[in-house]
Amino acid sequence: MKILIIGSGGREHALGWKLCQSPKVEKIYFAPGNAGTAMIGDNLPIKATEIDKLSDFAEKNKIGLTVVGPENPLSLGIVDLFESKGLKIFGPTKSAARLESSKAWSSQFMNKYHIPQPKSFVFHSYKKAHDFIDEISRPQSIVIKASGLALGKGVILPASKKEALTAIKTMMVDKQFGEAGREIVIQEKLTGPEVSVMAMTDGKTIIPLLPAQDHKRICDNDRGPNTGGMGAYAPVPFVDKHLMGQIQKTILEPTIVGMKKEGCPYKGILYAGLMLTEDGPKVLEYNARFGDPETQPLMMLLQTDLLKLFLSVVNGTLEKQKIEFLQEAAVCVVLAAAGYPGKYAKGETIYGLDKKTYPPAFVFQAGAVGQNGQTVVSGGRVLGVTAKGKDLKSAIKNGYSSIGKKGVYFKNMQYRKDIGAKA
Ligand code: AMP
Ligand code: GLY
Repeated sequence: MKILIIGSGGREHALGWKLCQSPKVEKIYFAPGNAGTAMIGDNLPIKATEIDKLSDFAEKNKIGLTVVGPENPLSLGIVDLFESKGLKIFGPTKSAARLESSKAWSSQFMNKYHIPQPKSFVFHSYKKAHDFIDEISRPQSIVIKASGLALGKGVILPASKKEALTAIKTMMVDKQFGEAGREIVIQEKLTGPEVSVMAMTDGKTIIPLLPAQDHKRICDNDRGPNTGGMGAYAPVPFVDKHLMGQIQKTILEPTIVGMKKEGCPYKGILYAGLMLTEDGPKVLEYNARFGDPETQPLMMLLQTDLLKLFLSVVNGTLEKQKIEFLQEAAVCVVLAAAGYPGKYAKGETIYGLDKKTYPPAFVFQAGAVGQNGQTVVSGGRVLGVTAKGKDLKSAIKNGYSSIGKKGVYFKNMQYRKDIGAKA
């Protein structure tokens, strides 16, 4: 079967790498892909948001399955478009992807179906949001979120009333995030460890993957600005069977049931970004897709044939499947360009990729492109050095020992030294 993977990050490289191990996969195309995906398939000069071009390509080239990595094509309705042409595609429809593309919608959805979340209020009017913040005695106890897609930058944890008021003005009046900030959600601020639980669902059955933990801040000890994610590991030792059962019962299953009742059955990957509070796990955000970098350690541990899983979701037969993982641990350390998450330098040569792998580590590529026979930096998050081990400690050791002059590196790269330390 011919496969088309949409996206260009470490997530897409990792999904492709795993799909290459499925005996039924003949060839993989990536749109647009990166230097790493070019080594395992063909990169196409089509952007992830050019959904008409993508569906034309899939039709003409008899693609058996398309897998959507990032959120933008989902919110543009790529799944609806492919399905209307009878093309198989893995991911939720536009209306189901509102769980991610509209935080206002998803917050109201969670209220309606009693899915635990922080106390939340949705505002369409700047004046009402302003009055609400004006009356709060402790602005440090709230979180302000642009409702729409804002590349992870639309969440503000204000330290003062002034900062809170500036944040809503920037979003709602100055339109820093465009339409994404037209509506906002103001939430109660919670505390506790965060975990990412991704689950595979065909709209009827939902099966969780291993719990993972992301590291969103740029610097060690969770300092500095938020990023797309600087590293991840799985499984998370403090999420035991009992807690996973609770997450399944109070969050994952009610989400699937609710989405069906809303007339937009959800299929694909449901990602719940959770905070483990004293009152149990609560949803900070949903994503309608695989998380990045979390997908990288998960693919390294997954034992079940990924193509079979994708097809069982698309065909509505997930009930018959089991999802198995190695009884080991895996970690992904992201190597980022100097300056990221702000303006970053491009064009640095990446060294050490010719060694291909550093077993048991593998270097998934993201912001990396081929140029004059070399691989150079082209994006903020450049590489995901991903390693497994018999336990987390040895996975961490295997990952970090593949970084630097003896392994893979580029000038002025920045990476966190504490991935997995919180476990
Ligand atoms: P989100 O994109 O909604 O997951 O938010 C990004 C990050 O902001 C999360 O990973 C949390 O660290 C933090 N955050 C979001 N919502 C809350 C909340 N209600 N309470 C505390 N921290 C939050
Ligand atoms: N790692 C978080 C995300 O993919 O949104």
